[in-house]
Amino acid sequence: MTSLDPRALRDAFGSFMTGVTVVTARDKTGAPVGFTANSFSSVSLDPPMLLVCPGRFLSSYEVFAECSHFAVNILAEGQQEVSNTFAGYKGNRFAKVAHSNGVYDLPLIDGALAQFCCETHQAIPAGDHTVLIGRVLAFSHTAGDGLGYVGGSYFSLGLEREMDAKVPTVCGAIISSGDKVLLEREGDAFRPVQISGAERGGQRNRLAKGLVKRGIHARIEQVYSSFNDAESKQHYTFFLALSDQHPAPEQAEWVSVADLPDLTFASKGIHHMMSRFAREAQTGDFALYLGDAERGDIHNFR
Ligand SMILES: Cc1cc2nc3c(=O)[nH]c(=O)nc-3n(C[C@H](O)[C@H](O)[C@H](O)COP(=O)(O)O)c2cc1C
Repeated sequence: MTSLDPRALRDAFGSFMTGVTVVTARDKTGAPVGFTANSFSSVSLDPPMLLVCPGRFLSSYEVFAECSHFAVNILAEGQQEVSNTFAGYKGNRFAKVAHSNGVYDLPLIDGALAQFCCETHQAIPAGDHTVLIGRVLAFSHTAGDGLGYVGGSYFSLGLEREMDAKVPTVCGAIISSGDKVLLEREGDAFRPVQISGAERGGQRNRLAKGLVKRGIHARIEQVYSSFNDAESKQHYTFFLALSDQHPAPEQAEWVSVADLPDLTFASKGIHHMMSRFAREAQTGDFALYLGDAERGDIHNFR
């Protein structure tokens, strides 16, 4: 048998996009138990069956391996906290999450998109997990988008689509050449080169096309900052870019990086970003910012 690298195998399995469920049951004393699971699959329509795989590492493993009934709750987007609670919280998980009782007193998570109450059909030990197959006795379903999971992170397709459709997006570039940055004027204030427009889709392509249209020659590199600016009610995505276009293209000017913190910019969020750029340009160690104009996370590339 080939020996497989467990870390690489876990990553490969994790590349499969799934939803997220919380699987619940009651132990012998009647206390509710539950864990987060993405190993859910529908199995059969007639008779109605589904499966989920509890791992031997679960503190509640014995309960699930031997239970006569269990429930599966498919989480809705926005229920990350519920997922995190049932994946990691060591106290009473049910005290933190609103729930009710279904048939056989099975705990059902409020706000879940679908809830299935099952009778155990078969529990098949399989390596370090058990394949728990349930026959669906009762279920409920509400329309909506589910919470997504891939590569160890959650995603919310519905929310992301909505944001894409609602928030006007401006993309731009912090174009540098040695110790200078290319800036434009907006009234009395400065701003990095920006391309706005109704066109949707790949920001990088949009930016590249926009720069060419404006006669700016620059090589677009990594995304540098993506944030919602409450002041201008816009979403900004800025890339880093390099150029050796001298003199400056029309309607833009080369400004010294060292002067950036003292300049007046079109908004507080942009001033914040440009000051960070001036700081990071000293070492060339640029990080990615995701958040809003006030608060966000810096992600280091290395
Ligand atoms: C998105 C996600 C999916 C998971 N899927 C499973 C799964 O299918 N089977 C499993 O046994 N554990 C799965 N886990 C891990 C368990 O939820 C976690 O180990 C468990 O809640 C720990 O419970 P315990 O403290 O009672 O042992 C998953 C965790 C997350 C965050």
